[in-house]
Amino acid sequence: MSELNNIALKILENGKGILAADESTGTMTKRLESVNVPSTPQNRLLFRETLFTASSMNECIGGVILYDETIKQISSRKNKIPELISKIGSNPGIKVDTGAKVLSGSPDEKITEGLDGLRERLKEYYELGAKFTKWRGVYIISKNYPSKLSIESNAHALARYSALVQECNMVPIVEPEVLMEGEHSAKECYEKTSEVIKKCFEELILHKVDLKGIILKPNMILAGNKSKEKISKEEVAKLTLQCLKSSVPSEVPGIAFLSGGQSEIEATENLNLINKLNKTNFIMSYSYGRALQQSALKFWSKDLNNIEGTQKIFNHRAKMNTLAAQGKWSKELEI
Ligand code: 13P
Repeated sequence: MSELNNIALKILENGKGILAADESTGTMTKRLESVNVPSTPQNRLLFRETLFTASSMNECIGGVILYDETIKQISSRKNKIPELISKIGSNPGIKVDTGAKVLSGSPDEKITEGLDGLRERLKEYYELGAKFTKWRGVYIISKNYPSKLSIESNAHALARYSALVQECNMVPIVEPEVLMEGEHSAKECYEKTSEVIKKCFEELILHKVDLKGIILKPNMILAGNKSKEKISKEEVAKLTLQCLKSSVPSEVPGIAFLSGGQSEIEATENLNLINKLNKTNFIMSYSYGRALQQSALKFWSKDLNNIEGTQKIFNHRAKMNTLAAQGKWSKELEI
């Protein structure tokens, strides 16, 4: 087994998932201000450290995606953050793209940037202890979108990123996110997501990326958030599985979904059904940001010193999602 394959499997073993705590300072500021907490480097660290030292980390969270600011911060117990995460038994990871910018030639769409100087930055992150990385491409759905230009250029960037990351002995998370915003049907989401993922793999193969040493982070197949269509959870699970089965090469060890604006319970329930119906060999787990942190953040914002109470809420969500990643979750377990 290759070393990268080993890391990917370790991150997702036994129902473990990934905590996406890699919000950029801009996004984190919006999240904190929405609950009336000032966005200072200390507060950003305090909330994140509260999650990273929770008891569920060892049992449920196989990897944590950090932002550049956090990977260089020192915890209140005087540990470097990546060391703290490794000591707890999880794996530190790092977001390495520099954000989605307007795509010249199709200005309603975005292209993710960050390839310039990436090799040097990767070496630095590796030295800091990172075992894996993340790069997110975003795609909108509407009548003419995503365009061929957006599909091809984002796939190219994801592949160049992945090749560089593997060269530096880390596992790339490949995240092509087809956004939930819009009036589109689930069928349109299915078709566009399939096209996007197939193009990504075409480019990954062209760039000689070892598919056994990546983790795919896709969206689930959902109707747009402004669509009138109501589809059942079973339908979401079936379409998601069908889409991935037909567009992801079998060498890929694991798939970790993003939550993409679903509620906490919805993200858990959908993941659970996906695993109940999963007949593929892919591990199907989670790499959630909002769906792991929302309730904990709301609770914490009322008393920044209530570490234990905040961790209790986070532990519950992490446990529910780890059960869902094994198809063992049920509504009755929610409190
Ligand atoms: P959400 O689960 O909040 O969509 O975030 C996951 C993520 O890492 C987006 O890049």
